[in-house]
Amino acid sequence: LISTDAATVQAMAHTHGHDDDDDTLVEMLDLDAEVLHQFWSDVLGEVRRTIEEPTVIVDLGAGTGTGTVNLVRTFPRATVTAIDASEQMLHRIRHKAAALGLTGRVRTVQADLDTAWPVDGPVDLTWASKSLHHLADPDRLLPQVLASTRPGGVFAVIELTDPLRFLPDDLGLGRPGLEQRCLDVLRDEQAAALPHLGSDWPGRMAAAGFTLLGQHELAIDVTPQGPAALRYAQLWLQRLRSGVADRLAPDDADILSRLLDPSAPETLTNRGDLHIRGTRTLTLAARS
Ligand SMILES: C[S@@+](CC[C@H](N)C(=O)[O-])C[C@H]1O[C@@H](n2cnc3c(N)ncnc32)[C@H](O)[C@@H]1O
Repeated sequence: LISTDAATVQAMAHTHGHDDDDDTLVEMLDLDAEVLHQFWSDVLGEVRRTIEEPTVIVDLGAGTGTGTVNLVRTFPRATVTAIDASEQMLHRIRHKAAALGLTGRVRTVQADLDTAWPVDGPVDLTWASKSLHHLADPDRLLPQVLASTRPGGVFAVIELTDPLRFLPDDLGLGRPGLEQRCLDVLRDEQAAALPHLGSDWPGRMAAAGFTLLGQHELAIDVTPQGPAALRYAQLWLQRLRSGVADRLAPDDADILSRLLDPSAPETLTNRGDLHIRGTRTLTLAARS
């Protein structure tokens, strides 16, 4: 979560509205694709090893199209249907597809996956990245995915374990462990807002009738160098602050504000010790 998910909690609270939170989420998802490109390339590599030449692909909770765009590029004969509840996200995908000359291979469908299942099938590959934990009842959706998958077809699920980390334990400011204390507060908030986050996805997929093919814990380890990575860190920590600041000790809230104040000497972009690190899981399963 917060990486993109604290942002999503807030964006989804506005359902189909359009506001600054939505704009920030769009920017964060695009930066996630750019800054963590090695992670995405690792994921695509595993998926490519699992399924040969899918032509019908569905991207569930597609966001700004990180999966959609990577999938059409990875599988040159495929058409990808991107499904999301947010029209703003789908608009961004159409814009990207047009800019990349991929319009004919990308279709967008607006649907709330908690209430609708707009997939006809048979589908060769279904991709769900950081989206299943947003659903009210993922166990309702999983059998629908299975039913739409052709025999031998694959379901690839990318999910979050722990939130990404950006800061060193000792900032040389205030008490060591600021980020950990923020994440402890965040974990409590997320337990209530996103009860499926970090759940046993392989177990749930198997219970729905999928045959498990592989589980991968893929590492994220990026030293921010360019402006995109610094912007990603800044947005992430801004989101973290908006989610947890009122439950932090005053000295911690003050340090966080100074890190995020572009005019403060301690501002993030003046630091040379940011390090983006964490893991995400990829579960691959097939319909027998
Ligand atoms: C954290 S984003 C992930 C986006 C993208 N898959 C990625 O990996 O970058 C979660 C996405 O799921 C979408 N979403 C959440 N709940 C949904 C629902 N019930 N039906 C359809 N889409 C949903 C959100 O609009 C958002 O775009």
